[in-house]
Amino acid sequence: MSFTNSPKQDQKRGIRTFHARQGRISPLTAKTITSHQGSFILDPQAPFDPIATFGATPVIFDIGCGFGEATTAMAAAQPEIAIVAFDVHVRGIARLLQEIDHGNLTNVRALNTDAVSYLNHMVPNDCLDGVRIYFPDPWPKARHNKRRLIQPDFVRLLVSAMKSGATLHCATDWQPYAEHMLKVLTNCSELTNTVQDFAPRPQWRPVTRYESAGIAKGHKIFDLIFRRT
Ligand SMILES: C[S@@+](CC[C@H](N)C(=O)[O-])C[C@H]1O[C@@H](n2cnc3c(N)ncnc32)[C@H](O)[C@@H]1O
Repeated sequence: MSFTNSPKQDQKRGIRTFHARQGRISPLTAKTITSHQGSFILDPQAPFDPIATFGATPVIFDIGCGFGEATTAMAAAQPEIAIVAFDVHVRGIARLLQEIDHGNLTNVRALNTDAVSYLNHMVPNDCLDGVRIYFPDPWPKARHNKRRLIQPDFVRLLVSAMKSGATLHCATDWQPYAEHMLKVLTNCSELTNTVQDFAPRPQWRPVTRYESAGIAKGHKIFDLIFRRT
């Protein structure tokens, strides 16, 4: 297995793409996490092994799953794929795990870690069938734009992990970020846009929690679907 393994890349960025959250972890969250360790929670310190985890099932990374409602809806609707859902916030991961239990889902795993660092160190090349990044934090202030997840270095990292023909599907309700995404993805020589500009919203994509909030504020929704050549 070959690894992207360029440890310098995330250090070079040295920038966190997420909001730090403090506060007490509730006993229920702690219990949910503990009871799923070693089964539905993957070890962020161990290299990702798609075959050992899911056999021959196609694997999709869902990065920044929040509370996981869209993740579990997709997993239930598409039992033929396996989804690895990332979030740095443990409360969201615990909710995702509760939903997994509730739906008796076997095709989802959770990773409570920074996806940038994990992709840098733990993911073999050419192993993913798709990546979904729905409503990443928009970081609207100009001085925070550098914290946006979709940046050329990170996209190169994603592309290395993706198989030829795999799709990278992003969505946002923040127009300036959508335009930035379109530019970054279009400029990546190993990606091809599946349409000319923004993609029509695929009917199968569940409306996410963050998307609902954007729609309530009157925001337009932008989908981008690119394929690795
Ligand atoms: C704006 S929320 C969107 C959540 C969900 N996708 C939705 O649409 O409702 C973005 C999520 O991405 C997570 N996130 C941001 N950067 C991340 C990273 N580097 N690795 C893992 N999760 C990250 C945040 O913790 C947050 O939960």
